Amino acid sequence: MASRIEKQLEQQLESRKARSLLRRLVVIPESSADFSSNDFLGLARNANLGARFFSELESFPKDRPPLGSTGSRLLDGNSAYAEQLEVMIARFHSAEAALVFNSGFDANVGFFSTVPQPGDVILYDEFIHASVHDGMKVTRAGIKQKFLHNDLLDLERWLKRFRQEEVANDLAVRNIFISVESVYSMDGDIAPLKEMADLADQYDAHMVVDEAHATGVFGKNGRGVVNEMGLENRIFARLHTFSKALASNGAALVGPKILREYLINYARPLIYSTFTSFSNLASVRSAYQMMIDGDTVELVENLKDLIAYFRTHIQIPEHMLLPSSSPIQGIVMDGNAKVNALSQCLIEAGLNVKPIRFPTVPKGKERVRICLHSHNTREQIDRLIAIAQAWIREDRAKDRASLAPAASTQVTIATTRGRESLKSRL
Ligand SMILES: Cc1ncc(COP(=O)(O)O)c(C=O)c1O
Repeated sequence: MASRIEKQLEQQLESRKARSLLRRLVVIPESSADFSSNDFLGLARNANLGARFFSELESFPKDRPPLGSTGSRLLDGNSAYAEQLEVMIARFHSAEAALVFNSGFDANVGFFSTVPQPGDVILYDEFIHASVHDGMKVTRAGIKQKFLHNDLLDLERWLKRFRQEEVANDLAVRNIFISVESVYSMDGDIAPLKEMADLADQYDAHMVVDEAHATGVFGKNGRGVVNEMGLENRIFARLHTFSKALASNGAALVGPKILREYLINYARPLIYSTFTSFSNLASVRSAYQMMIDGDTVELVENLKDLIAYFRTHIQIPEHMLLPSSSPIQGIVMDGNAKVNALSQCLIEAGLNVKPIRFPTVPKGKERVRICLHSHNTREQIDRLIAIAQAWIREDRAKDRASLAPAASTQVTIATTRGRESLKSRL
């Protein structure tokens, strides 16, 4: 017989199911076209990266190959290999220092739970990643305030308010952190980082930029959007994940040396978790070396061509296409049912896309997320566009048909009312 806790768990899952929110693990068939993964450059199956990775592994001593890291970095998990990799990463991103975490999630939790000091302010974009929220749940910062997505006026409104409040109430000056993503994971749009950095300077705030979806894709040789905009010196900390375009695991926080030292002392996800294995570090090193050598440049150019191809060829009402110049594209529709249905139709045609539903995105902004990759072909994109357009045409025709009787009822009511009011006037 199921125990009380098992019944409670089941009830909660049933409730998710009833709201069409049940999450499941799926195995994607090898044959389906990838319009979903974060493998933007196709490095997860890239022969060049594979060869570099195997040759890196070959360089390890055969009789005592370093495999598991064997502990937290604070205990036995650290190595000269890891530290050399961090120097390489810091140099690549023109930062004083880099600190590798086991995941981007851990890095954000580590940063936001410990760096803001008691009473400090975190201003975060309303679409910021869940890992920043988890960090903020245990942060010592006194104030966590969201601002409207990419909205400079709203950001400035809050910055001004917090600084004015200090003057009016004779408070000590607080540190203000502005937490944004350079490329947003569900919208694909890019933050106005230059203008934000200007505001940060004006109000003495610190920018923290999550480059998870930009690493490898934007900037010189994949250095990220901050590099592309020439802002390296104006950003307090940047997060570069290895888990998306770089086909590995983990992430580096890059910033001042003191930040690295502080995180080593306080970031619990780093202190209380076994450090990543050598094979993963070798993979990260190979991916960085590939970017340094310029071997990803062609892949990025091809990806950018495909993004332009997709956007110029798809013909759907403008408001339905996310305004994105990044690999993350999307068809916006009203309601979970519609995004589920269109996604299912594309998946059945062998095109792997994902429905992004409320509450992950706001009501009315549900979307089919379409990630483009350098390994997609124009034929695959043509097929995706043709199926999506046909589905949308049919759906709109259905909507029109279902509205038609309602419209005639309204006319009847209006006419009847009109007659009544005419009668009453007679
Ligand atoms: C913006 C953003 N930050 C951080 C993360 C977490 O990175 P990781 O997958 O390496 O844990 C993700 C992953 O989804 C992300 O999209």
